[in-house]
Amino acid sequence: MFGPFSGLFGKDIGVDLGTTNIVICVKGKGVTMNEPSVIAFRKASRRSNKEIIAYGIEAKAMAGKTPIGVETVQPVQSGVIGDFEMTGALIRHFLSLANNGIRPMGHPRVIISTPVDITEVERKAFIDATLDGGAREVYVVEEPVAAAIGVGLPIDEPRGNMIVDVGGGTSEVAVLSLSGVVVSNSLRVAGDEMDAALINMMRQNYTLSIGSATAGELKNAIGSALPMNSEKEFEVRGRNLKDGLPKGIRISNTEVREALNPVLTRIIEMVRETLERTPPELARDIADQGLVLSGGAALLEGLGKRISQDLKVPVLTAERPLLAVADGIAKLLDRFDYMKKILVSVGHGVR
Ligand SMILES: Nc1ncnc2c1ncn2[C@@H]1O[C@H](COP(=O)(O)OP(=O)(O)OP(=O)(O)O)[C@@H](O)[C@H]1O
Ligand SMILES: [Mg+2]
Repeated sequence: MFGPFSGLFGKDIGVDLGTTNIVICVKGKGVTMNEPSVIAFRKASRRSNKEIIAYGIEAKAMAGKTPIGVETVQPVQSGVIGDFEMTGALIRHFLSLANNGIRPMGHPRVIISTPVDITEVERKAFIDATLDGGAREVYVVEEPVAAAIGVGLPIDEPRGNMIVDVGGGTSEVAVLSLSGVVVSNSLRVAGDEMDAALINMMRQNYTLSIGSATAGELKNAIGSALPMNSEKEFEVRGRNLKDGLPKGIRISNTEVREALNPVLTRIIEMVRETLERTPPELARDIADQGLVLSGGAALLEGLGKRISQDLKVPVLTAERPLLAVADGIAKLLDRFDYMKKILVSVGHGVR
C-alpha cells in the first residue's frame, strides 16, 4: 500500500498542528490521532534540559494544576510557533506514535498545515520543527486549503469555493478556484479569544477569577452566536476575588452570548471584507452555493446561522469541523501528484 520502500523510509504522515489540537493522519488510514497540543515538563535543574513528562491529553489534564517545578505549555500560540523546542518535541512524539512507536530506519515524509498569511520566517519555523521532530521531507499546505479539500469542496473546478476555518488561535478564510487561492485572509482571533472574553466577563460582572479551561467549558456548554429558544444555565466555579475563596455562580446563556459577541463580530467582519475582495464571478458562486465553516469553533451553537444572516450567504457547517484540515491532508497524502500543485513549500532534512 505504501510502495516498496515504505518500510525503509517510514510512512507518509500528515500533521495539523493547531493552537489547541494536534491531529495526525497516516496515508491510507485517514485521521489516527487527535489530542490537545500541550506538553508538560519539569523545569531544568542545573545543566540538564527540560524533562518532558506528558504529552497531549495527559498534559492538558495537568494544565493549571501543576506542582512547583512542573509547567504545561501550548507551543503553538495564535497559530504560529511560540516555543520551537517544545513544538519539535510534540511533533517527534506524535510521529513516533503514528509509526506505532517503532523508529523507522528512515524518516517519514510529512505534510503539515500552517495558517495563511504568515511570514516566511514563521513558515520556516514549522518546517524546521517538523524536521527536528524526525521528518525526512516536509511539505506545507495552507490550513484553509487543506480544510476545503477535507470537506470535499470541488476546489479544482472554475468556481468560487469559500472556506472559513475558526480554530483556537486563528480564524482563516480562503476562496479557491482552479486549485489555487484567489483571496485569503486571517485573523489571530478565534476560540481562545472567546474564552478570554468569558474570563473578563466573569471577572468584571462577578469578581470571579476563572481559568481558561473553565471558560472553554462554559463556552462549549451554553455559548451561542444567536439567541436560543430555551434559556440555559451553567454553574461556573472559580475564585472569588473579594475574599480569595472558591465560589460557584450560575451563568445564563444570554450573558455568555453577549460576552462572545464582540469576538464573533470581528471574525465575521474579516469574512465580509474577504467577500468584498472576491472577484464578482466567484462571489456569485459563493452567494449561490454558500461557504463552508470548519474548525472547532464551528461547533459554537448558531455560528453558521449568524454568519449566514450577517453576510447573506448560505453557510454549511463541516461534518467533522475539528478534523477538516487533517481530513484534507489525508486526501493529499493519497494523491501526491495532485498535491504538488497545492503545496507552498518543501523542506528537506539534511541527513
Ligand atoms: N462545542 C464547542 N463550542 C464552541 N467552541 C468549541 C466547541 N468545541 C471546541 N471548540 C473550540 O474550538 C477550538 C479548537 O478548534 P481547532 O481544533 O480547530 O483549533 P486548532 O486547529 O488547534 O487552532 P488553530 O488552527 O487556530 O491554530 C477551541 O477554542 C475550542 O474551545
Ligand atoms: Mg486549526
